[in-house]
Amino acid sequence: MKLFDVYPLNNITITKAKGSYVWDEKGTEYLDMYGGHAVISIGHTHPYWVSAIETQLHKIAFYSNSVIIPIQTQLANKIGTVSGKNNFQLFLCNSGAEANENALKLASFVTGRKKIIAFTGSFHGRTSLAVAATDNSSIVAPVNETDNIVFLPFNDEAALQACFDAQGDSIAAVIVEGIQGVGGIRVASNSFLQSIRSLCDKHGALYVADGVQCGYGRTGQFFAHDAAGVDADIYSMAKGMGNGFPIGGILIAPHIAPKYGMLGTTFGGNHLACAAALAVVDVMENENLLEAAASNGAYLIEALKKIDILENVRGRGLMIGFDVPDSIKDLKKVLLQEFKVFTGEAKPNVIRLLPSLAISRAEIDIFLERLQKAIQSLS
Ligand SMILES: Cc1ncc(COP(=O)(O)O)c(C=O)c1O
Repeated sequence: MKLFDVYPLNNITITKAKGSYVWDEKGTEYLDMYGGHAVISIGHTHPYWVSAIETQLHKIAFYSNSVIIPIQTQLANKIGTVSGKNNFQLFLCNSGAEANENALKLASFVTGRKKIIAFTGSFHGRTSLAVAATDNSSIVAPVNETDNIVFLPFNDEAALQACFDAQGDSIAAVIVEGIQGVGGIRVASNSFLQSIRSLCDKHGALYVADGVQCGYGRTGQFFAHDAAGVDADIYSMAKGMGNGFPIGGILIAPHIAPKYGMLGTTFGGNHLACAAALAVVDVMENENLLEAAASNGAYLIEALKKIDILENVRGRGLMIGFDVPDSIKDLKKVLLQEFKVFTGEAKPNVIRLLPSLAISRAEIDIFLERLQKAIQSLS
C-alpha cells in the first residue's frame, strides 16, 4: 500500500536521536534547531522520559476514561505548579487541533454563542473548527467553511474594539497565539492581549490562548501569553507536552464548570501518555528549563541580530524567526544539506528556530558557526 502523499519530504531517514542531535541511517549527525516542529521540549530520548514510559508500559498502557486514572491527577498537579495556574482544571486529549477544537467548543457551550474571533496569520490546526479559525483557505475544505469565524488583523486593537462594539453579544471566544508560529514568528503585543482580556470581560466572551506551539516553556514563561500579565480563560497545549509522545490538553479557568459528557475522548489522558507528559514536567522543573529557554534564547537572538544579512530577527526564548533575503534564499536548504542543521520555515522567506529547551550554549555556538559558514558559502 502507498502512503497518502501529503508531505513534501526531505530525502533523509532519521534512525536515532539524542538531546539536540539526530542521526540518519548512514550515521550522519544533524543538529536539530527545529525540534521536530517545536515538539522536542526536554531533548530527544531524554533518559528520565524513556525510563518513565518504559516503567509505565510494564504496568498498564491504556484504560478508558471510565475508571480513576491517578496519573492524570499527578500530571494536573504538576502542570499546575510549573505553570503557576494551580486553580485551573485540566482536560486531556491527543493533539493541538483537538485541544483547540475542545477549547472553542467549550467556549460556545459556556456562553451559548457561536461567533469566534481569530486573526490574520493564525494557525490552530486541521480539525473542522480549528481549521476554520486558521488563516489559510487552501487547507479549509468546503465542509469546514462557516460564517461563525470573524478574522481580524493581528495586533490591531482598534479593529478588535470595533468588532466587539458591533457584535460583542454574539462573540463566544477570541482565539490567539501568544506568538504566531506557522504565521512566521509574529509576537502578540502585551497591550493586544490585555485588550482581548478586557473586551472579553466586558462582553461576556472567553479568551482562548493557543499555546500549542508557543507554550509549554518555549519562551521562558510557561505560556507565551503570560508576558501580558493577564490570564486567559482557556489555554491549549500539545507539542512540547509529551516531548514527542502524542498528548494535548486544555487548562480551563475555575469559573468554568464541567458537566458530564460535555467533552470526551477515548485515548486522551491514557496512562502511557500521562507518564510521558509527567516525565516532561519533572525534567522541566529539575533542569530549570524555563530559565534556560529564556537566557539561551536571549543569547541566540542577540547573536543573530549581529549577523547583518539576516532581517527582522524576532521572537522570545527559544521561539525565534528571521527573514532570509533573496540573495541567500537557499539558506535553509544549504544549512540542512551541507551543514547538517535542521531548521523550520514559514512562508514566504522566514527561518524558524524551535530547538529543544535543553539545548546548551555550546550547541547554540555550533549552530551560529554553521549558520555563518552557510551564509558565506551563498554570498
Ligand atoms: C499554534 C498551533 N496550534 C495548533 C496546532 C495544531 O497542532 P496539531 O498538529 O498537534 O494538531 C499547531 C501545529 O502546528 C500550531 O502551531
